[in-house]
Amino acid sequence: MNVIAIDGPAASGKSSVAHLVAERLGWTFVNTGNMYRAMTWAILQRGVDPADSEGVARAAAEVSIDFDTANGQSTIRIDGRPPGPELTGDEVNKSVSIVAAVPAVRERLVASQRALAVLGPLVMEGRDIGTVVFPDAAFKFYIDASEEVRAARRRAQGHADSVGERDRLDTTRKTSPLVAAPDAIVIDSSHMTLPEVVEHVLAVLRGRGLASSSAW
Ligand code: CDP
Ligand code: CDP
Repeated sequence: MNVIAIDGPAASGKSSVAHLVAERLGWTFVNTGNMYRAMTWAILQRGVDPADSEGVARAAAEVSIDFDTANGQSTIRIDGRPPGPELTGDEVNKSVSIVAAVPAVRERLVASQRALAVLGPLVMEGRDIGTVVFPDAAFKFYIDASEEVRAARRRAQGHADSVGERDRLDTTRKTSPLVAAPDAIVIDSSHMTLPEVVEHVLAVLRGRGLASSSAW
């Protein structure tokens, strides 16, 4: 299966790493966090209380959501338009882990994520890619970093985001909790730069025989 799964907690660097690894390989980068964020935003737009899981499940079934790929990345249209900067706003930050815990939301998005694999080889980042979405992925990474470092990274990006609270919700939910797959390579990036993490991932891939090329 041509999928590299990259999971990890909030602000561990997994989307930056996945994006850069995909670029180096010429594979398509898929950010599944944005899918949960887009779904959360659409649900909030409908005035549904995120804590009302039945209401969330009903609304999630009504939302029109389309995924595709363009220029080496996944693209989203939600209720007919591409989502904007509201995806990383406070409202979505506060509600996304509550919405993402609803099984009907996950079923819908996981089916779309699996469907993307027919479009070509993928580097997919998220929380449950190596455990649930593609448990047979040949390459799995779990990018970690201390909570302190992750909070500092998020602050440096200019986002007020309670990463600890989202981690708590993401690791304790019943459906697809955040956990490293038993066969994932765990990288603690607390004291690593982004290029160091990327080189480490590429070295592992080469070592495991992923067609090596002088280009990467
Ligand atoms: O970028 P950051 O790590 O802060 O978050 P994200 O990847 O954008 O994901 C936002 C939220 O979506 C997470 O806190 C999870 O609650 C949820 N999520 C998930 O449940 N499963 C995924 N595969 C990806 C995200
Ligand atoms: O996707 P996730 O929320 O796990 O993290 P991200 O949005 O890719 O990265 C959060 C911030 O940490 C970005 O500004 C990265 O450049 C930075 N960073 C990193 O990702 N990895 C390091 N080893 C050092 C910094």
